[in-house]
Amino acid sequence: MGSLVAYFSYEEQNSAKKGNTTVVAEKIAAITGSDIMRIEPKERYSSDYDECCRRAKAEIDGNLRPEIISHLQTLDAYDTIYIGFPIWYRSYPRVIATFIDSLDFTGKKVRPFCTNEEGAFGMAAMELESLVKRHGGELEQGIAIKGQDVATCDDAIRRWVK
Ligand SMILES: Cc1cc2nc3c(=O)[nH]c(=O)nc-3n(C[C@H](O)[C@H](O)[C@H](O)COP(=O)(O)O)c2cc1C
Repeated sequence: MGSLVAYFSYEEQNSAKKGNTTVVAEKIAAITGSDIMRIEPKERYSSDYDECCRRAKAEIDGNLRPEIISHLQTLDAYDTIYIGFPIWYRSYPRVIATFIDSLDFTGKKVRPFCTNEEGAFGMAAMELESLVKRHGGELEQGIAIKGQDVATCDDAIRRWVK
């Protein structure tokens, strides 16, 4: 069975430059031969950084489920799902929760990856573990890559995916 890389990146949606999470997602897909998809919010996060921060914090504090543009009906074709995101407020962007809520993860292995500035996963891995479990999946060891290291993390990814 195959594997899927599903990721959200804030930078990706607002600039010509690839987001940090996009860079890592594409490396994981290339190294593992996985399919790759972006998780896209129906309402884009503002390109105004402060405005984005306000919305992101409100969604995390309220544990909300912002609507996403859904491209996927089922995970039947996959046994491993790599889920990637930037760390937001030591947690994960809630579009990730919307994505997990929309699918049946029974019997699936979920491997999280994040990009961040400091503090690795923060609380995100622990919080995701219970969410993934509620949907029948199993969260495995993740990998956290600092923004400054995304261009050079190939070896770290190779060791992690083994
Ligand atoms: C709303 C918001 C909150 C953030 N909170 C954190 C944080 O708590 N810890 C951290 O290390 N980085 C934080 N960051 C930085 C991002 O996690 C980091 O720059 C990431 O690599 C961006 O990925 P992207 O380019 O794919 O969006 C935050 C960024 C934003 C926009």
